Amino acid sequence: MFCCSFCLSLFNWIIITAVISFGIKFLIKKLRGHVDITNEVDISGKTVIVTGASDGIGKATVEEFATRGARVILACRNLQKAERCVQQIRSRTTNGELIALHLNLSSLKSVRNFVTEFNQKYGDKGLSILVNNAGVGNPLGVRKLTEDGFEESFGVNHLGHFLLTNLLLPQLDKAAKEEEMPSRIVTVSSGAARFGKLNFEDLMFEKTPFVDTAFFSQFLCNSKLANNLFNLELAKRLRAKKVNVRSYAVCPGVVETNTVLEFPFPPVVKIVLWITRFFMGKTPKEGAETTVYCSTSKYLTHHSGEMYRNCEFWDYSKRPKLNEQDAKLLWEKSEKLVLLGRDESML
Ligand SMILES: NC(=O)c1ccc[n+]([C@@H]2O[C@H](COP(=O)([O-])OP(=O)(O)OC[C@H]3O[C@@H](n4cnc5c(N)ncnc54)[C@H](OP(=O)(O)O)[C@@H]3O)[C@@H](O)[C@H]2O)c1
Repeated sequence: MFCCSFCLSLFNWIIITAVISFGIKFLIKKLRGHVDITNEVDISGKTVIVTGASDGIGKATVEEFATRGARVILACRNLQKAERCVQQIRSRTTNGELIALHLNLSSLKSVRNFVTEFNQKYGDKGLSILVNNAGVGNPLGVRKLTEDGFEESFGVNHLGHFLLTNLLLPQLDKAAKEEEMPSRIVTVSSGAARFGKLNFEDLMFEKTPFVDTAFFSQFLCNSKLANNLFNLELAKRLRAKKVNVRSYAVCPGVVETNTVLEFPFPPVVKIVLWITRFFMGKTPKEGAETTVYCSTSKYLTHHSGEMYRNCEFWDYSKRPKLNEQDAKLLWEKSEKLVLLGRDESML
């Protein structure tokens, strides 16, 4: 079979490397947390909103909620794509209710229109779970703007969700009162937050130059840091006002979605990413697990303001500690940027 001893030993090395690689991959998968479905709050019939539900992690999250019998609103900027998702999910489960509604987070007007439409058509029972999942990842070295003139990542990933959450709080509060249990807000952040650095004098990088690394866009990292600070301050304000709503931030891990697959990285980075993905990459269904855990686990009923990864609490001591002053400042700046009226905010 082999023409020489070199070919034989090469073959042996390939086999050994493959066995070890797949062994490590298998082990990493086994060591990861999983949603404990024996300890879930019953969400059948409850109303859930998932932003960015037309693809990747959001789409997988919707399917998990539908399987559990929830009424799921797919809040998407592309309604045709969202309807295709509904059909695909319907071919796998007939459980729950799936409704596609238009939401473009890069437009404050669209966020407000979405909330008005939701209140009119589906606000009867309130809102039990809001998943702030949608996200854009800027191509490296490019600065784009939203309809309202905000830097795109900050505008979509943080400001759009900031306004949406505030406007939906009365509905979350309503469901909590009717169901006599806390409603939940889950914001999908990222480990990239650790590379974020907010300059409160120039949040949109209008005056200062931005510095992208080979792996991450500064804008993406900043928007994800903003997600974490938002989660911290939101939980604090909810607690202070005794609103029965919990807030969690989630790092989904490295998930094989458009965000990761279509990013125009330099070749060396692509190789590093390929290796990382091979060993640690999750399917969108696996990437949705921590979101589902935070949305439904009974263990978290009395927790709020924390961050989770692999269905486990992600310790603050293992990553840069969030600054409470920054969280407060970001909240106040965000209120001004999205023109949140005093009468519109419960907090
Ligand atoms: N994949 C990862 O490894 C990873 C790691 C850490 C964090 N995350 C975070 O996980 C979340 C989901 O990302 P993903 O990986 O599932 O990416 P994805 O497959 O690209 O999905 C992103 C979703 O967000 C939607 N979206 C983008 N801009 C929007 C806007 N202006 N208004 C409304 N919806 C918008 C997209 O809509 P269209 O379908 O119309 O494009 C899509 O449904 C993001 O917040 C991301 O930052 C992902």
